[in-house]
Amino acid sequence: MMDWTDRHCRYFMRLLSPSVFLYTEMVTAAAIHHGDAQRFLQFDVSEHPIALQLGGSDPQWMASATQKATDHGFDEININVGCPSDKVQSGQFGACLMAHPEIVAECYQAMLGQTDKPVTVKTRIGIDDRDSYEFLVAFVEPLIDAGCRKFVVHARIAILDGLSPKENRIVPPLNYDRVYRLKDDFPELEIVINGGISKIEQIDTMLQRVDGVMVGRQAYQQPYFLAEVEQHFNADRVLPDRRDIVENMLPYIDLNVASGVPLNRITRHMLGLFAGQPGARAWRRYISEHAHLGDAGSEVLVKALNAMPIAA
Ligand SMILES: Cc1cc2nc3c(=O)[nH]c(=O)nc-3n(C[C@H](O)[C@H](O)[C@H](O)COP(=O)(O)O)c2cc1C
Repeated sequence: MMDWTDRHCRYFMRLLSPSVFLYTEMVTAAAIHHGDAQRFLQFDVSEHPIALQLGGSDPQWMASATQKATDHGFDEININVGCPSDKVQSGQFGACLMAHPEIVAECYQAMLGQTDKPVTVKTRIGIDDRDSYEFLVAFVEPLIDAGCRKFVVHARIAILDGLSPKENRIVPPLNYDRVYRLKDDFPELEIVINGGISKIEQIDTMLQRVDGVMVGRQAYQQPYFLAEVEQHFNADRVLPDRRDIVENMLPYIDLNVASGVPLNRITRHMLGLFAGQPGARAWRRYISEHAHLGDAGSEVLVKALNAMPIAA
């Protein structure tokens, strides 16, 4: 999730759930082409299985980014056809590409030629007034012909003009039935449903109709949810103690701080770890007040734990 997640966040999430499939935030093919590819493609080996999500519409750039991602060891390359932001539309990628499946299919084929890993697509269920099952199928079919077998579907349309990206994740209503219908009509596809999923019971219900679920905001804001999901699907796994998760982050933090990463760039992802628990506010407050200070290191987290009631 752009501006929210990064490799530090994923490292933390992996400690909470050893087996969820992690996705990077969208990285543009142009950034990998022109910029510091290493910065965008770096990840810790513990993050596997991990997909790189690419934004773009230039087949050559998408192909070359795919090749670099494959060399770096990503397990899947995902094309973003869901982001509604203006910046993204002016670059002709993201959700506006739903109107141009032929461009996405061309990118898809170019990417497939550069990797032995699955190339997948994340999309919305429609855009603007093209809010119909038929439009979704017309988008998906050329990609199926190009070889795509896995779609992650955010179960709302994107309004390209007039709504902010944030509103576009709230205002258009969720329509899970359209995603279920896609799976019913194309049973050979792997369909992953996304949007508004925050409860394990919801996941159980959805998995009766589709192959997977993707969780965004709930996983970021209440990261312990990932540990609960992990335990739900792996009954022999004991729910981890939140304090142990913090302890397990310390060596990683020490290493990164020593190499110049500001502490708060890592701890910002951990603020929600104790959400709903006694002391959650003290935890957040201590970190918010101390993690940005110049010489702050992992001791801030130890002190933040000490600032909380023992029962937490
Ligand atoms: C801050 C933020 C950034 C996001 N960035 C991306 C992104 O880079 N790529 C993407 O496919 N979706 C992105 N999304 C959308 C989420 O992946 C997801 O589709 C959406 O939030 C609905 O799922 P949820 O209700 O589980 O959060 C972002 C969402 C948020 C809140």
